[in-house]
Amino acid sequence: VTTRVIDGKKISADIRAEIAADIQRLKSATGIIPGLAVVLVGEDPASRIYVRNKNRAARELGINSEQFSLPATASEAEIIGLVDKLNRNGEVHGILVQSPLPDHIDESRINMAILPEKDVDGTHPLNLGRILTGGEGLRPCTPLGIQELLKRSGVRIEGSHVVVVGRSNLVGKPIAAMLAQKAADADATVTLCHSRTRDLASHTRSADILIAAIGKPALIGADMVKEGAVVIDVGINRVPDPASPKGYRVVGDVSYDEVAPKCAAITPVPGGVGPMTVTMLFYNTVRAARMAAGR
Ligand SMILES: NC(=O)c1ccc[n+]([C@@H]2O[C@H](COP(=O)([O-])OP(=O)(O)OC[C@H]3O[C@@H](n4cnc5c(N)ncnc54)[C@H](OP(=O)(O)O)[C@@H]3O)[C@@H](O)[C@H]2O)c1
Repeated sequence: VTTRVIDGKKISADIRAEIAADIQRLKSATGIIPGLAVVLVGEDPASRIYVRNKNRAARELGINSEQFSLPATASEAEIIGLVDKLNRNGEVHGILVQSPLPDHIDESRINMAILPEKDVDGTHPLNLGRILTGGEGLRPCTPLGIQELLKRSGVRIEGSHVVVVGRSNLVGKPIAAMLAQKAADADATVTLCHSRTRDLASHTRSADILIAAIGKPALIGADMVKEGAVVIDVGINRVPDPASPKGYRVVGDVSYDEVAPKCAAITPVPGGVGPMTVTMLFYNTVRAARMAAGR
């Protein structure tokens, strides 16, 4: 088998170029500029970097992106107050509250406060529910990115056996439900595995498309993958690496070097699913703006 490496950076760049063109079209037809509000609570250094990078990348595409910061001591009511204000602001089409939130905040309550039509993260229960009912809605970014990677790599999803390992609300459950839908770029037969699955390898070995969203470095070995399978590695794990200047390196949930030679196609880590997630946030923002404009 010759393995194809699914280049998430390249696909992500292609989509961003399409998004930028879309924004220009929307602007010249309606005068509307997609607006994104990114809410940061507290001083978590990693979150600050993420938010800054998201803002910068959004602006590069022509999205009107603005950051709103609250102190780590902000109450739930204060955060919901800000969300309410953004809900009522007609120039804001998408609201993202950066996680993790401080411990005293119930993240699900904040999530629920965001108008579903501005929920560009796609994690509001109404939008998650729409995945099950097959309704129109904003889809969560990482699952949407995975579906887009498969689609743009010409992977046949229809009729395929997809095995998802991991059942988080953020990745595993929504991607399983999305690919099981009776719809284009879906129609798969889906198996959802997790830490209580008996004989995990017997399931993963029967996958035409294997999606690993576990958070355990190199858990998926060569003996767990069928010859000719397509492997999507969602995992982002830091492992100690004295040879690297940072002292660590980032690896996926799949033991890449031993699994790749067996695959028809595989996503690397980094450079696979990772770059897609933020891109789909921008995609959702433009979609929300278009929906608000009735287009
Ligand atoms: N690329 C991206 O943009 C992106 C986005 C989000 C997440 N991630 C990464 O993807 C990974 C998963 O994230 P998540 O938020 O979905 O994680 P999570 O909430 O921690 O869920 C992990 C899932 O894996 C299952 N699991 C753990 N150990 C297992 C084992 N030995 N065998 C089978 N299943 C096992 C867990 O089962 P139980 O339910 O039984 O506990 C759980 O369902 C992480 O590395 C995360 O950093 C990447």
